[in-house]
Amino acid sequence: MNCRICGSSTAPFMSFGRMPLANGFLREQEFSSEYFYELQPMFCETCHTFQIAEQPAPEAMFHGSYPFYSRTSCAMVEHFGRYAQWVGERYLDGRDPLVAEIGSNDGALLEYFAKRSVRHIGIEPSANVAEEARSHGVKTLTAFFSSDVAEALAIEEGKADVILAANVMCHIPDLGSVASAVDIFLKPEGVLVFEDPYLGDMLAKTSYDQIYDEHVYIFSCHAVNSIFGRSGLEVIDVQALPTHGGSMRYVLARCGTRPVEAAVKELMEAEKNLELHLADRYDRFREQCETSRTQLRALLGRLKEEGDRVVGYAATSKSTTVFNYCEIGPDEIEYISDTTPLKQGRFSPGMHIPVRPHEDFAADCPGYALLLAWNHRDEIMKNEQEFYSNGGRWIVFVPQVEILS
Ligand code: SAH
Ligand code: TMP
Ligand code: ZN
Repeated sequence: MNCRICGSSTAPFMSFGRMPLANGFLREQEFSSEYFYELQPMFCETCHTFQIAEQPAPEAMFHGSYPFYSRTSCAMVEHFGRYAQWVGERYLDGRDPLVAEIGSNDGALLEYFAKRSVRHIGIEPSANVAEEARSHGVKTLTAFFSSDVAEALAIEEGKADVILAANVMCHIPDLGSVASAVDIFLKPEGVLVFEDPYLGDMLAKTSYDQIYDEHVYIFSCHAVNSIFGRSGLEVIDVQALPTHGGSMRYVLARCGTRPVEAAVKELMEAEKNLELHLADRYDRFREQCETSRTQLRALLGRLKEEGDRVVGYAATSKSTTVFNYCEIGPDEIEYISDTTPLKQGRFSPGMHIPVRPHEDFAADCPGYALLLAWNHRDEIMKNEQEFYSNGGRWIVFVPQVEILS
């Protein structure tokens, strides 16, 4: 197999087995035609990019009924408010600036600019979420970001001062074409700012559920520099973020146009100390995944034997990796509670656990809830105090498998 970025020969260091689409929540009549692929992570020692060997076609994942809406998490909406303010203070000093966002989803981030009458444009291929963004006053083009789109936008809107992205750069396999499109659409001294789950956090927490079809990459600063460096961009600043279980924000500019902050060198050093560039680290990660799986299966097996009821909390895309890799199905998890109407009444991908509205969970009194949206732990714990005071207990598997006391 060849690395997507540099072409070097690279082999997967493990397999999570046959996987369905992470967001492919389905109806019973669709079970027999469900799509599967092989989920195999690999690490390229030449360009330091962590990637999955095979990714389903983008159109199979991002379409007119894409079930993930950014606004479902209040903590993320607040985070986007801070993101918008940070960008505004640092990079929007020119007159009548233009802000673009790749993968703008339901407009949760761009709305902050729209409200301040800052010119903006979202580029979002999933038609349902793009429509939701428009209903919040966010100007949105329904399209995958490409050079053609960049050329058309540069003519219609002018060039962008900043191009933003959150949790989408790691979804796009051909980053060379993203860099070309950025080059067309970005002003000469403009910046590209994106944030994604961080490889260092994933390894530290054994949060292997970050690995699923949409996440074709899990980035480190080394990888981002080598990927975009090929197209004349360089990382000029970085910022560690607590979102999605540990993310990194990268600011890129055309080489030599802006000073490189000390934080970049510090992060590159830290990555070397964490051995993110060594194949051995990924062998260790594989063993940690296997241990995590053994422990979660044992815990759920024990609770089942004791006659306890366990439900899943939040039908996340990440949970698809956990359930399929650990072979956890409706025998272990009665149902998954989720607030997204598009997922309710459907079944989880691959293992076919029913997804039910949150109201059912609130009215029910299961003994245990497996916290699948562990990245929103603080927000959920705050909202679910009643579950806990009624005797309900949380099971988590990141950073380790345990029942919270
Ligand atoms: N930025 C939002 C949404 C992240 S989900 C947030 O952080 O909450 C990823 C989004 O990117 C989806 O809405 C998906 O439809 C969109 N997307 C996927 N591939 C894309 C591409 N090539 N160009 C633009 N958007 C893309
Ligand atoms: P994600 O992990 O793919 O981002 O999906 C998050 C899912 O979690 C989404 O379907 C909404 C759901 N959710 C809840 O059901 N309750 C909550 O309190 C939160 C924060 C999320
Ligand atoms: Zn490579």
